[in-house]
Amino acid sequence: MVALRHGYHGRTMLSMSLTAHSNWRLGGVHDGSIRHAMAPYCYRCPLGLKPESCGVACAQDVEEVIRTTTSGRPAAYIAEPIMGVGGFITPPKDYFPAVAEIVRRHDAVFIADEVQTGWGRTGRKWFGIEQSGVKPDVIVAAKSLGNGHPIGATVARAELADSFKGSTIATFGGNPVTMAVCRTVVDIIEKDRLADNAAVVGDHLRARLDGLAEKHAAIGDVRGMGLMQGVELVKDRKSKEPAPQVAAAVMESAKDHGLIIGKPSPPRTPTRRPTCSTRPSARRPAFDEPMVSGAGTHRCRVLRQAHDGHPRARPFQERARPSPVRSESAGSVPGRGDHRHPRAVERGAGSRYPSPQP
Ligand SMILES: Cc1ncc(COP(=O)(O)O)c(C=O)c1O
Repeated sequence: MVALRHGYHGRTMLSMSLTAHSNWRLGGVHDGSIRHAMAPYCYRCPLGLKPESCGVACAQDVEEVIRTTTSGRPAAYIAEPIMGVGGFITPPKDYFPAVAEIVRRHDAVFIADEVQTGWGRTGRKWFGIEQSGVKPDVIVAAKSLGNGHPIGATVARAELADSFKGSTIATFGGNPVTMAVCRTVVDIIEKDRLADNAAVVGDHLRARLDGLAEKHAAIGDVRGMGLMQGVELVKDRKSKEPAPQVAAAVMESAKDHGLIIGKPSPPRTPTRRPTCSTRPSARRPAFDEPMVSGAGTHRCRVLRQAHDGHPRARPFQERARPSPVRSESAGSVPGRGDHRHPRAVERGAGSRYPSPQP
């Protein structure tokens, strides 16, 4: 199989071997039949090229890996449409079509790992891979399909699924309660147009993150799609040296403001938001108040403290912590848009979500 460097696929022996982060490969690398191609990581291009002129050379590395490190007949290629644990590495739009052509030419199966990108999170589409126009042979999914309820799913083209001839059984497989939950989640995503909402609120979030990047030199890159976006924090934009202390400080400060964000390895600062997020909620937390609060200095207080060696952003703990519940559920706040819960919309009139632009 061919996977990608910086990819993450889970904690079983096989999926740890597919994963390409040493810290997530506990107990050694178990499966020697897996090869890793270069990641489409434009901000830190492994080939030292520029996205405007590279001709997606990293896609050609998949062909090179197949030709030189496999029998030439790989079983499959697996990738996350946005590499979550890798730091929301977002491939350029020509990457997956180019790779799909190589994978098909070698009679291999294209697997999209949609565990983080699936179910509307990247905006307008059900699955992240759809953003590239590529139709995968297999999709693996989980997380948002259950909206917190434990679920994993594999969807494959019929001939692939039917080619599995052995017996199979699972204690919790096909659990009726879980199936009912997932059905309801999918219905709500569809009915409330949450994939459209992810695009609208995601655009708003991107505009805010881009605005912060103009102010804060520690933000080296802003990337992602829809409600799966993040920033890469660096000590210096020129050297691009990672800034783990800054990432830790922003994460702690966000927590103090009622928002949990992730810090992958190496540390960047991604935010994976529920597809029902609202514009006010996209404005509120980590990337806004904590970072902007050094207003006028062009270096926010969190960043300044992190640089000065403080492990946490203490002054923010002293500030009144805005309640996420209050601002989301208190009904319409004059001048601040509609904050109602979706169920309140069903009971009353109007919508909490911004009208999705087609
Ligand atoms: C992209 C991706 N693939 C696979 C997995 C593994 O899923 P699970 O922990 O349900 O096995 C994860 C878990 O976070 C993930 O983010």
